Amino acid sequence: MTPIAYSIFQTEDYDEAAAFWQRTPYIGLSSADKCEAISIFLARNPGFSFTARDGDTLVGTVLLGHDGRRGYMYHLAVAAEYRGQGIARELIRLGLEALRGAGIEKCHLFVYTDNQNALEFYRHEGWQQREELVIFSMNV
Ligand SMILES: CC(C)(COP(=O)(O)OP(=O)(O)OC[C@H]1O[C@@H](n2cnc3c(N)ncnc32)[C@H](O)[C@@H]1OP(=O)(O)O)[C@@H](O)C(=O)NCCC(=O)NCCS
Repeated sequence: MTPIAYSIFQTEDYDEAAAFWQRTPYIGLSSADKCEAISIFLARNPGFSFTARDGDTLVGTVLLGHDGRRGYMYHLAVAAEYRGQGIARELIRLGLEALRGAGIEKCHLFVYTDNQNALEFYRHEGWQQREELVIFSMNV
């Protein structure tokens, strides 16, 4: 069995990743996920986002970036048939290590309230659920 290969997410990965995200439940997609927007995100945050591949096949993604104060994680996803092998844990480890290297001390992420699977995963992995915070958004 070929080991899973982890690489820095490049703009060239976009088309495959976008198709993967579209077929993965609970990966919320918006205009901020168009190719140009993701390319800008990757250029502003070089070396923080990762892919996992089995041979040529994309089986996992994670996007991380920071604003100089805090880190943010988006689009953690592992293909259904590859779950339970530690791929998400390794993608997160790589991303958090990169944030740490940039002097960032805390990372936030967003989860749909009915995504029970991801909620259980993050709790299991030691993430703190912030009961005292609510997200507000506005179009600008
Ligand atoms: C959440 C997700 C990324 C987990 O990926 P994964 O590769 O299966 O996770 P890992 O194999 O790295 O799991 C690491 C650990 O978490 C545990 N774990 C995984 N899913 C879990 C769950 N739903 N509940 C509790 N523990 C879980 C694993 O058992 C493992 O722990 P162990 O080593 O003690 O056995 C995957 O289920 C997924 O892609 N879901 C759909 C997309 C999604 O909802 N993403 C989150 C968006 S916010």
